[in-house]
Amino acid sequence: MTSQQRLNDELQQQQYKWLVTGAAGFIGSHLVEELLKQGQRVVGLDNFSTGRQENLDDVRRIVGEARWELFDFQEGDICQLEDCQRAVVDADFVLHQAALGSVPRSIKDPLLTNHNNINGFLNVLVAARDAGVRRVVYAASSSTYGDHPDLPKQEERIGKPLSPYAVTKYVNELYAEVFARTYGMDCIGLRYFNVFGPRQDPQGAYAAVIPRWIESQIQGKACRINGDGKTSRDFCFVSNAVQANLLAATATDPGAANQVFNVAVGGRTSLNELFALIRDLLIKAGVTVTIPEPEYADFREGDVRHSQADISKASRLLAYQPEFDVAKGLELSTRWYLEQQ
Ligand SMILES: NC(=O)c1ccc[n+]([C@@H]2O[C@H](COP(=O)([O-])OP(=O)(O)OC[C@H]3O[C@@H](n4cnc5c(N)ncnc54)[C@H](O)[C@@H]3O)[C@@H](O)[C@H]2O)c1
Repeated sequence: MTSQQRLNDELQQQQYKWLVTGAAGFIGSHLVEELLKQGQRVVGLDNFSTGRQENLDDVRRIVGEARWELFDFQEGDICQLEDCQRAVVDADFVLHQAALGSVPRSIKDPLLTNHNNINGFLNVLVAARDAGVRRVVYAASSSTYGDHPDLPKQEERIGKPLSPYAVTKYVNELYAEVFARTYGMDCIGLRYFNVFGPRQDPQGAYAAVIPRWIESQIQGKACRINGDGKTSRDFCFVSNAVQANLLAATATDPGAANQVFNVAVGGRTSLNELFALIRDLLIKAGVTVTIPEPEYADFREGDVRHSQADISKASRLLAYQPEFDVAKGLELSTRWYLEQQ
């Protein structure tokens, strides 16, 4: 039996109440979708700073009206303690996704990133503590590895952060650990490595590389590669991240509590390879526009050169088994973006 099947069995038997912060965002909306499909009760909290109503509308269309009834969306801000307190009432689990992502955004406006990602996180922790939730699973980040040269990345060996964003995500880990020690809370951090998939926003200055490139290629526009294209990442399809969240929340192995885990596939794809993979998939899907060769620009400040996860800790303690490799994930993603045109 796969871990996904085991998880499905458990959730079929037991209806929990979940708070998903950042529910209108990319990863948050996928968590809401999966939980509702599994017949779980879900509260979503989001202030729409980067999230979108269309993401929630998409979930509603996919799960159908009966399942949608199990969802309570609350527009609110994690920087307001009362909003967190209202959202967390009676929750068994918190899946905390709300944050301002993007390294460049944090370099441009460190105060804003700090406020949302640290003060907001602290409010979520305090509200979850006071409500007595069973466990908080929170979105940590591979950026915490900073300048540490080792590959693949293992959870216990981190370097110095390379951006304000990375500082905020590391501070989240420190706070989670202190809340576990001081108040006996149970928190698990998931260090996501470049998550991608449907509903990830392709627009704006801070868009992630995969949605931006898919959109550019569909429109016949040139993709910009920062650096020589040999920069590599462990790109992770969003369904793998969803699986990791639900496994982390329901994990019973005592060794899993209050730990951080890499969430990725354990592979490495260079930007040059990524460009070609997307182009080939779009051509295979029948896109006829001429896709220009990429334009190369300077390396981007705050970016790490290579990133690849060792996922053995998550496999061992959470039974995490990523079901989608990069190629499969890109195929599903390009199909989705083509359907949106
Ligand atoms: N996507 C990735 O590759 C990746 C990698 C590492 C970590 N993460 C982390 O995963 C989480 C989810 O990222 P995502 O890619 O889905 O981004 P996203 O921007 O699509 O989602 C974040 C959501 O949080 C909401 N939000 C932000 N600040 C808020 C606030 N103050 N109050 C309430 N809601 C707020 C936004 O409106 C948005 O809906 C974030 O914590 C991010 O830092 C993502």
